[in-house]
Amino acid sequence: MASNVRFDPCFLVASILLYYIIGDLATAHNVPQAQLTPYKGQHLMKVSIGTPPVDIYGLTDTGSSLVWTRCPCDVCYNQIHPKFDPKKSCTYSEISCQSEQCHLLLDEAACSQNICNFNTGYASGFSKGVLAKEKVTVTSTSGQAVSFDIAFGCAHNDTFYFDAMGIIGLGPGPSSFVSQIGSKRFSYCLLPYGTDPSITSKINFGNGSEVVGDGVVSTPLIVTKDFPSYYYVTLEGISVGDTYVPFNSSGKVSKGNTFIDSGTPQFGLPPDFYDRLVVEVKKQISIDPIKDDSLLRTRLCYRTKITNENGPILTVHFEGADVELKPTQTFHRPLKEYEYYCFGITSTANSDLASWDGLGIYGNYFQANLLIGYDLETMMVSFNPTDCTKQ
Ligand SMILES: *[C@@H]1O[C@H](CO)[C@@H](O)[C@H](O)[C@H]1NC(C)=O
Ligand SMILES: *[C@@H]1O[C@H](CO)[C@@H](O)[C@H](O)[C@H]1NC(C)=O
Ligand SMILES: *[C@@H]1O[C@H](CO)[C@@H](O)[C@H](O)[C@H]1NC(C)=O
Repeated sequence: MASNVRFDPCFLVASILLYYIIGDLATAHNVPQAQLTPYKGQHLMKVSIGTPPVDIYGLTDTGSSLVWTRCPCDVCYNQIHPKFDPKKSCTYSEISCQSEQCHLLLDEAACSQNICNFNTGYASGFSKGVLAKEKVTVTSTSGQAVSFDIAFGCAHNDTFYFDAMGIIGLGPGPSSFVSQIGSKRFSYCLLPYGTDPSITSKINFGNGSEVVGDGVVSTPLIVTKDFPSYYYVTLEGISVGDTYVPFNSSGKVSKGNTFIDSGTPQFGLPPDFYDRLVVEVKKQISIDPIKDDSLLRTRLCYRTKITNENGPILTVHFEGADVELKPTQTFHRPLKEYEYYCFGITSTANSDLASWDGLGIYGNYFQANLLIGYDLETMMVSFNPTDCTKQ
């Protein structure tokens, strides 16, 4: 008798999970959300993929769009968690080269045996593999699981030596997680660098994820045909204590001169602006910076912790939105082994960010303890000072 009962994991899981269509889930009472965990200067977002679902921890990256995870591969980093095995999921299906999705989602789709292949480059490496459809499941504010069918990259070759299991692109491009689930808004709260990894915070998607209330400041978001890849905003200047340092010494700035990137730790600034800013920061800290350590290259570091007592408050002036940052948010210990405290703003001329000539990159150190909301309908980015450890 038992041999007549076919075990069908797709049927079984489909009857347990509640599937929603976008229209239904976007009520204020049930907002899709995922857990965020700090990891080596990055933030891991937990989603489940496949049927039955397998947990994936991918880098939360507003600075790229493709969603990919490491699949079985010959040459790639031996991550702690098992790699996603498409053979064990009954909802996995590869996308053919003829499929419109293949060309819609990838700037440079390649074909191999009629399967759509992706090859994505980042500032710090590349990832290559097969584009496939899969069920991705997150939780929600009501506690119920919410699933979406999305196209993702099953990577067979990548150069990332990290235990993150891939990258969850949240950028404005068509292949990103937010674009594919049809979400016009999302918000997240990032934990400060060095937070105990057992503490988690949240990212929310869709209606109900708006950042509202007292203390919220908002700045225009610029995503246009000319600026399609990133979430651009306009940075007018940064105050060090009471001293205003303009982005451009002529006082004029171009719209969208900075983008918000949750996947880059530092706050990168064009060299001219950085140099003027650092002069002012040094002036307002009475301790001498480290000069004799070549490892630190041109970074501004101190041997003493920079606290609210011995360091200045920085105010980041986005167009229409001032975001205040305490010394404990702007100075970090880059290496656990050393008692060094380094300024988290760097010059794009001295790093792998050099390709972004003239642009600022607002990285994740400076996004910590802020609830940050992106709204592609009102075209605004909002910030609300929040203790993300209590979220
Ligand atoms: C989400 O809210 C916007 C208004 O802010 C509304 O126009 C839209 O229909 C809502 N979407 C859904 C799916 O309920
Ligand atoms: C991985 O990609 C690199 C760069 O394109 C290539 O040189 C290498 O041969 C690939 N490795 C495998 C196992 O496919
Ligand atoms: C500052 O503005 C001037 C005039 O608009 C422009 O030529 C120059 O490139 C700008 N400099 C920077 C660093 O953005």
